[in-house]
Amino acid sequence: MTSTQPIPHPVSDWESDFDILSPDYVTDPGPFWDTIRQGCPIAHTDRYGSTWLPTRYQDLHALAQDTTRFSSRDVAVITPFRDVDDKASLLGFSAPPITSDPPIHTWARRMLLPRFGPTPIAEMTPITHGLANKLIDGFIDRGTADAAVDYAQHIPVRVIATMLGVPLADEAVFTSWAVRILQGGFQNIAVATDAVMELVQYFTVKLTEREAMAADQRPDDLLTFIIEARHEGEPLAYEHRIGTCFLLLVAGIDTTWSAIGSSLWHLAAHPEDQARLRAEPDLMPTAVEEFLRFYSPVTMARYVTEDTEFNGCPMREGDKILMAFPAGNRDPEMFENADEFRLDRTRNRHFAFGSGIHRCLGSNLARMEVQVAIEEFLRRVPTFELADPDGVTWSGGQVRGPRTVPIRWAR
Ligand code: HEM
Repeated sequence: MTSTQPIPHPVSDWESDFDILSPDYVTDPGPFWDTIRQGCPIAHTDRYGSTWLPTRYQDLHALAQDTTRFSSRDVAVITPFRDVDDKASLLGFSAPPITSDPPIHTWARRMLLPRFGPTPIAEMTPITHGLANKLIDGFIDRGTADAAVDYAQHIPVRVIATMLGVPLADEAVFTSWAVRILQGGFQNIAVATDAVMELVQYFTVKLTEREAMAADQRPDDLLTFIIEARHEGEPLAYEHRIGTCFLLLVAGIDTTWSAIGSSLWHLAAHPEDQARLRAEPDLMPTAVEEFLRFYSPVTMARYVTEDTEFNGCPMREGDKILMAFPAGNRDPEMFENADEFRLDRTRNRHFAFGSGIHRCLGSNLARMEVQVAIEEFLRRVPTFELADPDGVTWSGGQVRGPRTVPIRWAR
């Protein structure tokens, strides 16, 4: 097995040689999307294998609906081992439903839906308030904190660990898997593969233990649900069980951490929006949608299954398409003054959670987490500001969000 290392040469032309790992793009991709949208509007690069970058809302929408030509069999935005045909088989499992196409996708998703509907989310809401408050207790007397490191990153992992039924004491391990799989793997396949293997071993043990319990002794959590789930009367295959645990753990961690972190970064950097949200708490649900639109964290990929053409672009079998939902969310044809953040934007049909059959299964959960995290922060922490604007760092690639947000407030 060989790995394709990112090529660190500077971008010569964003329409034909874009680089989503370029530091300027990671820090502020908006201007690059504008350039591409006004030019091609679907950019191409050969940096990490032949890859396309659509930037218009309508193109992304159309691509997401065509699951025959544009498959989810490889959703990694940069597959470090593009010379290996099938990433899923390399890792020994897939992560249904996100890495599957119909017909498997249809039942794999339908099975999980009730576990992420209104009732389970309502049950998790007070727990999330408690988790947020406990974190704030840890730094409120200091007058300074890192809104990403001390706060945002901990909430989603603790929420999903609670839902899965795995110990919160293992939080650091779960976070490390998410970071190594979704970020480290771009540079070094061994980093991601090791993390996947650790995760597989961990959940193999957890699922085996749970299965060995008497049915009436099993707690009501996602691990039990996965053990007891049936498809056409049969228990799920081992690979399906592990892949689903993998997805549910990894999909909800640095996505939601990024959304909470960017929201707090925005409020620290824009005192007028912070003051308004404090004064008008009823704006919160509308503001959450604008945080999600403006700072959409997630870009997934599609795998082109046949030589084809899409809006004038000659695509070859095996090409990747970056589903840059965040770029679509800045399309001026869809959003008025798209590059402007408006706390009270009401016409906001964003697709931070994707579009089509793979639309985020955890969107209700994520919305609740983001809202609770901001509400508790504003309730407990007095007016805050960036302590070191140059010290803010962002992650890029599959999931974009701030990783360090040093802030301070008057005690
Ligand atoms: C703000 C936080 C989040 C964002 C922005 C986000 C975004 C997305 C996006 C864009 C997709 C579509 C993927 C594609 O088209 O290939 C997706 C799918 C998915 N998300 Fe999320 N997500 C978030 C939080 C969560 C959480 C908390 C969970 C809970 C476990 C979750 C579980 C999933 C699952 C299972 C899928 C696959 C759905 C399918 O393939 O049918 N996500 N998410």
